[in-house]
Parts: sequence; structure tokens; C-alpha cells
Amino acid sequence: MMQTNTNAPSRRTFLAGAGMTALLAGLHSTIPSEASSATREFRLRAAPGSAQLVPTQHPETAVWSYGSVPGPEIRVRQGERLRVVVENALAEATTVHWHGMRVPNAMDGVPDLTQRPIAPGESFTYEFDAVDAGTFWYHPHKRSFEQVGRGLYGPLIVEDLDPVAVDSDVTWVLDDWRLLNDASISADFGNMMDTGMAGRIGNTVTVNGQVVERFPVRAGERVRLRLINAANARIFALDFEGHAPQVIALDGQPIEPHTPENDRVVLGSAMRIDLLLDMTGAPGDRFRVTDTFYQGLEYRLLDLAYENEPLREQALDTPVRLSSNPLSEPDLTAAERHTVRFGGGMMSGMMDGAMMRGTGRTMGSMPGGIWSVNDVGATGHAMKPMLTLSLGRSYVLELANDTDWHHPIHFHGHSFRVLSRNGAATRYREWQDTVLMKPRERVEIAFVADNPGDWMFHCHILEHQAAGMMGVIRVAEADRT
Ligand code: C2O
Ligand code: CU
Repeated sequence: MMQTNTNAPSRRTFLAGAGMTALLAGLHSTIPSEASSATREFRLRAAPGSAQLVPTQHPETAVWSYGSVPGPEIRVRQGERLRVVVENALAEATTVHWHGMRVPNAMDGVPDLTQRPIAPGESFTYEFDAVDAGTFWYHPHKRSFEQVGRGLYGPLIVEDLDPVAVDSDVTWVLDDWRLLNDASISADFGNMMDTGMAGRIGNTVTVNGQVVERFPVRAGERVRLRLINAANARIFALDFEGHAPQVIALDGQPIEPHTPENDRVVLGSAMRIDLLLDMTGAPGDRFRVTDTFYQGLEYRLLDLAYENEPLREQALDTPVRLSSNPLSEPDLTAAERHTVRFGGGMMSGMMDGAMMRGTGRTMGSMPGGIWSVNDVGATGHAMKPMLTLSLGRSYVLELANDTDWHHPIHFHGHSFRVLSRNGAATRYREWQDTVLMKPRERVEIAFVADNPGDWMFHCHILEHQAAGMMGVIRVAEADRT
């Protein structure tokens, strides 16, 4: 049976009386083996394990992980080739998807569509080039609502050849867990209530796999903060009290540097945002970083804690614009247009993220057909393409959210420009691979279909994806569709 507790992360529970200062330990990079200079080799082993997600007066949590939560940071330079050997030590099949990386179709990690799932005890070797610099991540694409939800994910950073000057380059992988009082993961994955509504919203938010109290900074420091939302469903809107973060990249792709609307940094599931954060406070200061996305459920994520020694008197004044990645610019005058409609959901008219706890029964497998794309509710990845696009041609897709819920919609194999929202042109025509649609919103995106193969697109609220909100788009030579 379900526990009843609130959805606001329970700092009260896990930090009470702690006075604890969980420092953000740097993520460990896996050690590249001595491969040729251009190919970097990594190993990932998916297996049951444990992690100290919450402060140490509480027990460890049994997780599924790539050795740690998050998994080891994979960090390469733009233009390098990655070879990643994935070993499956889970009791069920898995795959790895390189979220946001424009890889060849066979390396995309989609079970039954681009590869046979990796059976327990088997391995699979992925190999692809790091075409774009930026902040990416990896996660399973098989039963991801449970595999990701139990801790299988990790950061993938592709360093710029020509980086902007910063004092520190820090990654925060954000996750949201539904923990019981003994710090174990609530096993109610895929219950109807989560599935039909806002997805699995948890009660404990971690940064790099830990509930974090303070993030130490120094006055005058310039931090490049790479945010990755690895949560199944939670949408974050981060407010950096007293600071004015500049967005320099979205979903790995550079964007004209700007401060976000209302200074709120909004990330739907799977999105990444790179910020430049100038530490304009004074030695000894403390500022709160709060998440204000769900009304009435705001909470403090952590404090920026200024050390007593400043780094410099004045913030850096060096250029902040990243060099762009080699993306094909869509030709809007020649583009072919299509509409893709997203439908379904259990109820309408409720506050998004009504935050009702998962009181439904746990499903052995996810129900299909609660959500749909163009009226089709997916039941698995092996789908017939919904659209066939001609290789090399430009497309504008109008994504219509016909539901009362938010949906972060992700396309594989391509990044796209976000042209408009509800008919109003976007200010930055940002490149994204995952676009967060508000309830009832219509979003136009454009891209060149330049990567051949059958590509998934789906909502990245993993419960929505599993319950039907996904489809396949084929990119093929015009004469052999
Ligand atoms: Cu991040 Cu289809 O996934
Ligand atoms: Cu969704």
C-alpha cells in the first residue's frame, strides 16, 4: 500500500537536525583506456547497487545504477569518437540512449527499433562521434519509467574546442525520488494516477545523487553551471536569490546569452540548461536556490554559501558567447509543414501537477493508450513511422498540445529550432532537442531532416511516454521511402 506524504521534497525529514554540509562532490570521470587519441573508450555496467541519497543518519537506498548515482561522467572533446561498452547486469533487458547527441541511428539505443535490447548478462558496444559540444546525458530507453526512476542515468559532457572563460565548470544532475521513510524507493512505478496526470513526482530532490545543503562559492567567481533534469517527471523552475544567471546554452546548443524571463530557469524532464553564474555576493553571504515551479510546493534546493575569501574583487567581464555547433539551418521558405497532435490524460481542468499522490494500484506493465500522438497510443517502440521525411529537406512541425498538462517533447537524432509558441515568434529561435509545451500550447519547430533512420519522438515525462505518448518519424532518401 501507498504511504501518504506530501510531494514537496521532505527536507524536514531528511535534513532535520543535520546541520550537515553535504559538499557537492565532483563527479568522477571514468578513466579512458589507452585507445587511439581520437577514440575514447568507456565502460558502463548497469546493475543493482546502493547509494547514499539522503544524509547519513538515514539508510542507503537500493538503486539500479551505472556504479554510482549519477553514473560516471563521460567527458570528451568535440570531434572525438566515443566507444562505450555497456554491460547489462540487471535482471531485465536494457539499452542506453545518448540523449541529445546526434548519433547514427543504429547507435541511438531504442529497443526493438534501432537495436535488439541488451539481455541480462549481455553487452553492447556503442560507437559514435561527438559532433556537437555541449551538455548531454545518457539513460536507458527500455522501461525507462522504472530504470531511470531507480537511478540509471549519467552526464555526458562534450567540451568546446574554444570554451568561454570561467573559474569553474560544474554539473548539477537534478533528480526527484519518491522515497519511503526508510529511504527506500517507493515501488509504485507506473501507477494510474501518476500516469494519467503529471507523471511520477517524488518527494526528495537530489543534486548529483545527494540531498545537498550548501554549494560553496567565492565572491567574484564565474561558474558555468550545467543543469541536467534527469527526473522522470518533475519540472524545475530555479530561482537563484540575489543572482542573475545568464543562459548560454539550451539542450547542449548555444543560445544568445540572456537572463531568463523572471530570472526563473525552467527545465522540463530531460532538458539541459547551461548557465553562467557570476558570484556577485560578498564573502560569508548565503543565498537560497529555490524551485518554484509547482504553485504552493516551492522548496529550497540548496544554499549558495560564500566562503570567507573572495576570488576577485569584480566579476569577470570576458565574452560569454559559445561558438555554434554544426547544425543545418532549416530553409523556412521551402519547408514542408506537418501538424503533430498530443492528446489524452486522465482529467482536465485540474491544476497541472495536481500532485495527487500515486494512490492507484501499481501496474505490472504500463497501460497503453492513456496518451496519444495523432490519436495513436503507442504500446511499444517498434512502431510504423507516422511521418516519412526526405533526407536533406527542411520541415516545420506544429506540435499541438491538446491536453491540460505540460509535456516536454523530445526528438531523437536531430536538434530543432523553436520558432513560435501560440503563434508568437520566440525571441531566440533556440535550438532544442526537448521542448516543454504548456497545457494547450502550440509550438512550431523547424529542422533539416539530415540524419537517416527511424527516430523516436515522445514526451519525456516517462510515464506519459510509456502510456502512449510516443511515435516514430522516418528520415529516408526521397526515392526509397
Ligand atoms: Cu531521453 Cu527518447 O529519450
Ligand atoms: Cu507528457
